[in-house]
Amino acid sequence: MAPNKLPLCSKTVLRAHPKSVEIQAYLSVKLTAKRYHHVLSVQEMAIELARCHGVDIWKTSLAALLHDCAKWMNREELFSAAARYELQLDPVEQRTPALLHALIGVKLAEEQFAVADLEVLEAIRCHTTGSPLMGTIARVLYVADFAEPTRTHEGVDVVRALAYTHLPHAVHHVARYKIQHLLEKRVMIHPDTLHTYNHTFADAE
Ligand SMILES: [Fe+2]
Ligand SMILES: [Fe+2]
Repeated sequence: MAPNKLPLCSKTVLRAHPKSVEIQAYLSVKLTAKRYHHVLSVQEMAIELARCHGVDIWKTSLAALLHDCAKWMNREELFSAAARYELQLDPVEQRTPALLHALIGVKLAEEQFAVADLEVLEAIRCHTTGSPLMGTIARVLYVADFAEPTRTHEGVDVVRALAYTHLPHAVHHVARYKIQHLLEKRVMIHPDTLHTYNHTFADAE
């Protein structure tokens, strides 16, 4: 029985599923303790949001667990993996290695964990930059990654408050805070982040 069909689809039930156990074993070895804790925190918030917004809880949990599965790679490893997977990097990705962990995370999810679900893979791919085309599971992960309980940066309270009541509005605020942060750091901004901001602008008026 798929975990989301179980009568009580709690965090504990989801984490005890053999696929989750396999992924958690990998992450607990590859990621720092702080990053692994973040991943579990994202999963917890994403499960709550999935339940709230009526999307598949198992797929959402899987996407949340896997979203940072390539985060252990350093700059050289990221570019090497991108070349190995023949990823076509756009000009911003070529200059921003931090963006590559989402793209390579998709490949690891497919290859190492046999994930083929397009909604799960889309959510992993879009979790950093966003996308105007994101489905609800991807939106849930985008927001949970930004606003999970251990996050303390600017904007988390606003996004947490909106996440359960108006998801598109929450997505808009995440994009806005990311754009502000990137401008302050004087680094490039991926077009998908700008498109996400513009696409959800009307939702925030
Ligand atoms: Fe990430
Ligand atoms: Fe993350």
